[in-house]
Amino acid sequence: MDDRFRFVEVSASAPQKMCEAVREGLKRDERTLPTRFLYDRTGSELFEQITELPEYYLTRTEQSILEDRSDEIAGAAGENAMLIEFGSGSSMKTRLLISALLRRQSVLHYVPIDISHDFLCHSSDGLLSDFPQLIIHALGSEYFDAIEHLPVHEGPRLVLFLGSNIGNFTHEQSLEFLTRLRRQMRTHDRLLIGIDLAKSRSIVEPAYDDSQRVTAAFNLNLLARINRELDADFDLNNFEHRAPYDEDQTRIEMQLISRVEQVVTIDAIGESFAILEGEKIHTEWSHKYTLDGFARLAQQADLKVSRYWTDCNEWFATVMLAP
Ligand code: AVI
Repeated sequence: MDDRFRFVEVSASAPQKMCEAVREGLKRDERTLPTRFLYDRTGSELFEQITELPEYYLTRTEQSILEDRSDEIAGAAGENAMLIEFGSGSSMKTRLLISALLRRQSVLHYVPIDISHDFLCHSSDGLLSDFPQLIIHALGSEYFDAIEHLPVHEGPRLVLFLGSNIGNFTHEQSLEFLTRLRRQMRTHDRLLIGIDLAKSRSIVEPAYDDSQRVTAAFNLNLLARINRELDADFDLNNFEHRAPYDEDQTRIEMQLISRVEQVVTIDAIGESFAILEGEKIHTEWSHKYTLDGFARLAQQADLKVSRYWTDCNEWFATVMLAP
């Protein structure tokens, strides 16, 4: 590829980790499957489709904030900034920030971090041809593994974690993520985080249970992936997608509900699991925040809100954190 592109693989390859994580999750009293395994190639493609659904307001709302505010954000990042992005995916929204930063500086070092190596290479290709002043140092990594591998830079570093990806962490994970990132930040580095704001059930629930059933396919694909990669025999017709909103905890819980009493065998683990009719397998949390609640979380990690931007409905917020 281009000499403006460098790729470093940080996370160890997945199969062994996946085996252990699936086994551990299915043995719990309240069964769970790890959220990160939703994103194989098919899962990543289905997620891209989700972002375009009429019910899924998150992506286009965040995009509208960045369209309106990317010059202000680039200004707040400081002179000669480096751009680092956790969970870059197809880097679509990032293009707005790349353009804004390149209106202020002649060269930009961009560090996309994603577990999907295919996606990283594919999206980097497009960015390098569209932005001749861009240099990409990509990290193939899970989020937590990458924190201690962020490149150093003379100027400020603007670290992005967009799309309310932080909402998929548990409270403990988000605190650990922010705390470890904070330890890597120097005084002029900034963290830009996209958060979905708490709102009425009638808006949130359809975003996670759409009429075209793309989110259902995304959730069920996790079982198809385990069948394929771990030689399992999940019958997808025996599971139903559900995504109730817990208003007290302000979070969606994505679940797979067993329609029948059944036994599932996973050859790579060498075990069978008896699952009852109506039993739940948890697959994802998607937390929604108030601005105050998020500021408190940041403060626990020794970070403070320096600026934030929202859309006109206050459905989504882009928050800048400083050490
Ligand atoms: C990636 N993440 C922010 C999405 C969300 O909204 O929590 C994942 C998702 N799950 C179902 N639909 C979208």
